[in-house]
Amino acid sequence: MTKKRKLLVTSALPYSNGPIHIGHIAGAYLPADIFVRYHRLKGDDVVFICGADEHGVPITIAARKRGITPQQLVDEYYVLNRDSFAGLGIKFDNFSRTSLLIHHATSQEFFLKMHRDGKLVSKESKQFYDEEHKMFLADRYVQGTCPHCGNTNARGDQCEKCGSWLDPMSLINPRSTISGTVPVVRSTTHWYLPMARFQKELEEWLATKKDWKDNVMNYCGGWFKEGLGDRAITRDLEWGIPVPLPDSEGKVLYVWFDAPIGYISATKEWAEKIGEPERWKDYWKNPECEIIHFIGKDNIVFHAIFFPAVLMAQEGYNLPSQIPANEFLNLEGRKLSTSRDYAVWVPDYLKSFAPDILRYTLAANLPENKDADFSWKMLQRCNNDELANILGNFINRTATFLQKYFDGKVPENVKLSADDEAVLDEMRLGLQETGDLIDHYKNRQAVGRAMDMARAANRYYDASEPWKLRKENMERCAAVMYTCVRIIRALNTVFFPFIPFSMEELFSMMGFEGKLEETPWNEAWKLEAAGLKINEPKILFSKLEDKDIEPELERLAKAVERMEKEEAEEKKAADEYAKAAEEKKASGETPEGTISLAKISIEDLEKIDLRVGRILSAEAVPKADKLLKLQVSFGTEERQILAGIALYYKPEDVIGKNVVAVCNLPYRKLRGLESQGMLLCACTEDKVTLLTTDSPEVGPGTPIQ
Ligand code: MF3
Ligand code: ZN
Repeated sequence: MTKKRKLLVTSALPYSNGPIHIGHIAGAYLPADIFVRYHRLKGDDVVFICGADEHGVPITIAARKRGITPQQLVDEYYVLNRDSFAGLGIKFDNFSRTSLLIHHATSQEFFLKMHRDGKLVSKESKQFYDEEHKMFLADRYVQGTCPHCGNTNARGDQCEKCGSWLDPMSLINPRSTISGTVPVVRSTTHWYLPMARFQKELEEWLATKKDWKDNVMNYCGGWFKEGLGDRAITRDLEWGIPVPLPDSEGKVLYVWFDAPIGYISATKEWAEKIGEPERWKDYWKNPECEIIHFIGKDNIVFHAIFFPAVLMAQEGYNLPSQIPANEFLNLEGRKLSTSRDYAVWVPDYLKSFAPDILRYTLAANLPENKDADFSWKMLQRCNNDELANILGNFINRTATFLQKYFDGKVPENVKLSADDEAVLDEMRLGLQETGDLIDHYKNRQAVGRAMDMARAANRYYDASEPWKLRKENMERCAAVMYTCVRIIRALNTVFFPFIPFSMEELFSMMGFEGKLEETPWNEAWKLEAAGLKINEPKILFSKLEDKDIEPELERLAKAVERMEKEEAEEKKAADEYAKAAEEKKASGETPEGTISLAKISIEDLEKIDLRVGRILSAEAVPKADKLLKLQVSFGTEERQILAGIALYYKPEDVIGKNVVAVCNLPYRKLRGLESQGMLLCACTEDKVTLLTTDSPEVGPGTPIQ
C-alpha cells in the first residue's frame, strides 16, 4: 500500500466586493475541489481551506458607493459567495473570513515577530491625499494625463494607452478617482519588507521545484532577474487590521500582507471548530504535510515569492509544495469584464442550470496551460453529447434493462467471460490513469480519460448485445448485466470529483452500499455488486435545448453591444486627440494649456546652456516700448541682454534679481543693439513673468540642469 499523504489544499480567498463568476471557478476553485475529492477517495488526509478576503481599498470604495459600511458589504458577500461555492459543490472544510478576530490576531503576530526581529524597515514617502474623503490614494486611484503619450485618463500606476509604468507624481493634472478633486501631496511613513534580503533563499528554494508549472517558474524568474525591492506592508486606511505598534493610528496592514495569512487563521478556526485547537499545526508546522495553493495567474507573485518570504521570516512554517496557477478564462471569445457585467455569475447560473453541467464543462476546458474560452454552446454540447449521450446513456440503458428484465436485481453467481474481464480491466486502468492526471493538475485530460471509460462501457454494451442474449442465452445476459453494474460502480467513482451531485444521485439510484465519499478509488472497479436491488431508474442528465441557453446568449450580446459602444467612444476620443496632436505638430505650435507632444532627446536638452544670472543694471530702450536693456552677471562674465519685458517691469523692479538665462544662443541684434542671451519667462495671455530664484546658495553663473 502506498503511504497516505497529508495535504493542506487552499483556494485563493476571493475578495468580498462582488459575486463569484465562472472565471474565478475555473481559476482557483473547481481544480482544487476536484483535487480534494480525488485525494479523499484515495484515503489521503486532506484539509481544504478558503475564506473571504475582506480588506483592501476596493472594498471601502464599493461600500462607500452603496452608502453602507465596509463591514455591511463584506457581511453580504460572505453569505452570497459562501452559498455560491456550496451551490457548485465546492466543499471547503472551512470558508473563513479575514475580518475575524482570530485572523486579526494571527496577522498582527506575524507582523510583530518580523518587527521584533528587525526584518522590517520604515520609510517616509510622498503620496497623494484626497482631502474630501480624508484618505491617502493608492496609485491606481489617481488619474491624470500621461506624461508620455498625453492620454488624459492614465492611472497613477500605469498608462493603459502607451503601457508605460508611471509614478503617480509624474501625472499631469492629477485628480482623485474617488472624489474627482485635485489631490494634495502628503508625507507618510510605512513599514516595508525588504524583499532583497530574501531573494537568495527564495531562489534556492524555488530551484528545487522541478515539477512546478511553467507560468509560475517564468513569473518568478522574471521577478528575480529584475531584483526584489522593498514592499510596503502597511497602508493609511481606516478599514483593515490595525498596525499593532504605538503611534500607528490610521495605519493598517496591507491587504496582500494579511490575506495569505488567512490560510493559516482559517486552518486555526477549522481546528477550533472540530474541537482540536492545536490540529492546525499538523498542517502548517509538520514537514510531512504538503501545502498546495490553487490560484489564478494574477496571484502568482504573492504566493510564490511574497508569502513564502513572510513565512521564512516566521519560525517553523511549511512553505508551499505546489502552486498550480491557472491562466484566464474568456467568455464567448472575449475577456471577462466584471465592471461591464460581461461574465457568467454563479448565483445567476444556479437559478437556471444544474451545477454539474458547469463543473463538467469547465473541467473539460480549464485554462491549465493557456487562456481558455467558455461558451454556452460548449456547455450545451458537453451536456448533450457527453454527459447525456455517453455517460447518461450507459447508465440509463443498464438500469432500465435491469429493471425490465431482472426486476431491478443485479444477477448473482455469474461466470465472467474474457470480454467481461477485459472491460473491467479497462475500468481499473481508467481509474488509475484518471487519478494520476488529477494528481498532476491535468483535469482537462482527466475528464477526457474518464469519459473514455464511459465510451468503452457503451462499446462493450453494444458488442455484447444483451437485448439479443436475453432471448438466446440468459446466463450470458446475466453476466453482462452484472458486469455493467460493476462498470457503473467504477464510473460512479471516477466521475465523482467532477460531477458530485449527479454521482450522489446515481449512487443512491443504484442502491450501492456504503458511502460514495468513502469508496476507495483504486478498488472501485472490483467492488461486489451481485444481489443489489436498484431503485427506479431516472434520467441523470437531460438535454439542453437551444431555447434554454438563448436568454444567456442574449444577455451577453447586450453586454457586448454596450462594451462595443463604449470602446468606440473611447477610440473616437483617442483618435481626436491624436489628430489634434498631429495638427499641432504640423503647425509647429502647441496650443495653450497643452503640453508639447514633440519629443526632444536628453542630448538635445543637454545642449542648452542654462544659467542663473544677476541683473546688475537695467534701462529702457528708446523707441522700443517693449524692451529693457540689461547688464547681467554670470559670475565670470557679464553680458548685455535685451528682454521683452518692459510692459510688465520697470527697470528699477528688476535690478538685483537672480534670473534664468539661455547662454548659448547666437548673439543677435535688436534695434541696433546686441543681445547676448535670453531670459526665461512664464508667459500667460496678459502677462510675462521673469523666472527668478531667491535661493541664497544660487549665485550668478550657477548652471541649471
Ligand atoms: N483576494 C485575492 C484575489 O481575489 C486573492 C487573495 S489570495 C490570498 O485576487 F492568498 F491572499 F488569500
Ligand atoms: Zn501613456
